[in-house]
Parts: sequence; C-alpha cells; structure tokens
Amino acid sequence: MRNQKVNTRDNYIRTLYAAETELLTQIRNTLAEQNLSIHVSPEEGKLLQLLVRMHRAKHIVEIGTLGGYSALWIAAALPADGHITTFEKSSERAEMARKHIAASPYAKKITVVEGDAHAMLREHKGKVDMVFIDAEKTGYPDYLEWAEQHLPAGGLLVADNTFLFDTVFSEAPEGEAKMWNAMRQFNAALAERFEAIILPTAEGLSIALKPTK
Ligand code: DHB
Ligand code: MG
Repeated sequence: MRNQKVNTRDNYIRTLYAAETELLTQIRNTLAEQNLSIHVSPEEGKLLQLLVRMHRAKHIVEIGTLGGYSALWIAAALPADGHITTFEKSSERAEMARKHIAASPYAKKITVVEGDAHAMLREHKGKVDMVFIDAEKTGYPDYLEWAEQHLPAGGLLVADNTFLFDTVFSEAPEGEAKMWNAMRQFNAALAERFEAIILPTAEGLSIALKPTK
C-alpha cells in the first residue's frame, strides 16, 4: 500500500475474506507508526495465500521483507514441509521482521536473509517454485533475471507495484526516470517471456508463470 485510503469496497472484501490475525494487525500498526505503510494490504495478503495454495508452492523466495507482514500471510498457507526465504537489505527492518516472525506460529517456516538481495540471491541454494518481488523498484529487472533462471517451467512469479504508483503507463516522473525505465523494462520482459497479467490492484500486482514451452 502507499495510498492508504481504504474505501467501502475494500472494507467489504477485507471484512468478509481477509481478516487479519491479531499479530498481523499489530505489525500493520507498528509499520504505520514508523511511516512505513508500504506493505501489501490484507486483501493482497489473502490473495498471496490463495496463490500459494493454488500453485501448491513449497519453496518460496520473497524479495523485500519490511516487517514480515507478507511473509506471515504467505507462511500461513504453506504445507508442513514448505518454507519461505525472505530477503531484506535494511538491518533495522530485518530485525523488526525477525521479532514479528518469532511471535508467530511460523518461525520455523520463515528465514530472513539480511543483505542486498542482488548479491544474496546468488548464494541461495535449493529449489524455488514461487518468487514474490516487493523491493526497490529499480531492482526489478535484475530480480526477474534471477527468477527466470531459478524457477522451473511452470513456476510462479508475483510482483507488487508494477503500476509504479500509477506512472508506468504514462510519462516518467521528474527525477524518477531510472525507476520508471526499470519498471517499463520489467513489465515488457514479463509480457514477452512469461504468461502474465497485471491485476489492477491499487498498486498493480503482476502474476506470471514461467512458460512450460
Ligand atoms: C513503496 C513501496 C512498496 O513496495 C509499496 O507497495 C508501496 C510504496 C514505496 O517505496 O514508496
Ligand atoms: Mg509493494
């Protein structure tokens, strides 16, 4: 979320389908107090859970942990032998996320890796069947390269903010050409190389499958 306005329609969906646990509400409030309300919405959290279940995902990589909010939504949908590894560059954020995760029933299912994901991902070993990108926007093309190389055919890629705050489909904003070019490149590459769509959420949520050929 960036636009924090929750309208009647969002509220209807949220109340019916996307009730948070007490811990998730607490994390959202903690992030708000720190002016960090840039996590996914509860509805998007629920959507991520459904995607995990529909894809029967077991080995998930998340890029951009923040407070652990999305990782905790995702972890709740994982099977007993499932795991999510989440990458966070900021040590303060990684520490906050670890604290939140320790307070949840999913501590064993979540690993927070602290450091720059562009480097740390290259150290990541093991299978990956779902990748969720929600980190710095200039990094999306590189994250896509990694995901494409590491996902199997049919693997699932999800990416937040692919509308780039409602700018990606018009002109590059003043001084933000780098971010804009990166997101244009990411979206075009996804259209060309994956089976993909952008769900028109407030921020734009891309859902994509690596082709089976
Ligand atoms: C920002 C980042 C996000 O991932 C998001 O969903 C909303 C806002 C930001 O950096 O402003
Ligand atoms: Mg985001």
